Amino acid sequence: PVHRDLDGKRVVITAGPTREALDPVRYLSNHSSGKMGYALAAACVERGASVTLVSGPVTLSTPPGVERIEVTSAVEMLTAVESCMPCDLFIGCAAVADYRAAAVSEHKLKKTGDAGGLTLELVRNPDIVATIAARADRPFTVGFAAETQSLETHAGSKLERKRLDLIVANDVSLEGVGFGGDDNAATLLWREREGTRHHALPRQPKTALANAIVDHIADRLR
Ligand code: C5P
Repeated sequence: PVHRDLDGKRVVITAGPTREALDPVRYLSNHSSGKMGYALAAACVERGASVTLVSGPVTLSTPPGVERIEVTSAVEMLTAVESCMPCDLFIGCAAVADYRAAAVSEHKLKKTGDAGGLTLELVRNPDIVATIAARADRPFTVGFAAETQSLETHAGSKLERKRLDLIVANDVSLEGVGFGGDDNAATLLWREREGTRHHALPRQPKTALANAIVDHIADRLR
């Protein structure tokens, strides 16, 4: 069933990995496929939102009706997201690299003559979802939390620390869900006066899970 419950809303979603250059030919990254973020973008468009997808490098095609801004690094991703503010809803679904090289080498890094190792100096990347949640004109802000243990405790503290309105927590230690796969299961956590509330969504294809997550967001946005 298609509801137009996001009619007129402006939505910005980050998706995919970021790629942090080390030198002209090498980078640090991760295995994020972007599937969950792209499914969320498609679900929001179907419900009448105008959607901008700020995407790291992935092989997925842009869902019909979605505007896509392609970025490479976390710093570029933050700049692109900030250029889309203000908006009504921000979903940080990207697997943003926590660190980048302190300095990107202008030339290809060379092996040394001896058999010794190499130490790279890394610095912290900005936290995109926390930066957006800290704005005076903050949109309704949704983050993701991939955890391998104490799912609700860790996701609950992330909800507080990043000042999110909703967090979508995945147990990535479960077989067949999360990174790269087509299925996912999630627990939604949010704060109400009485304390932290949660709602479990069972394992299902990422496209169906995206609609279940957006059902919940649309209820809370109203
Ligand atoms: O702290 P952690 O990386 O587990 O938090 C995950 C959530 O924070 C996701 O929503 C992710 O998109 C977002 N994030 C971000 N910028 C970062 C790191 C994570 O927006 N630098």
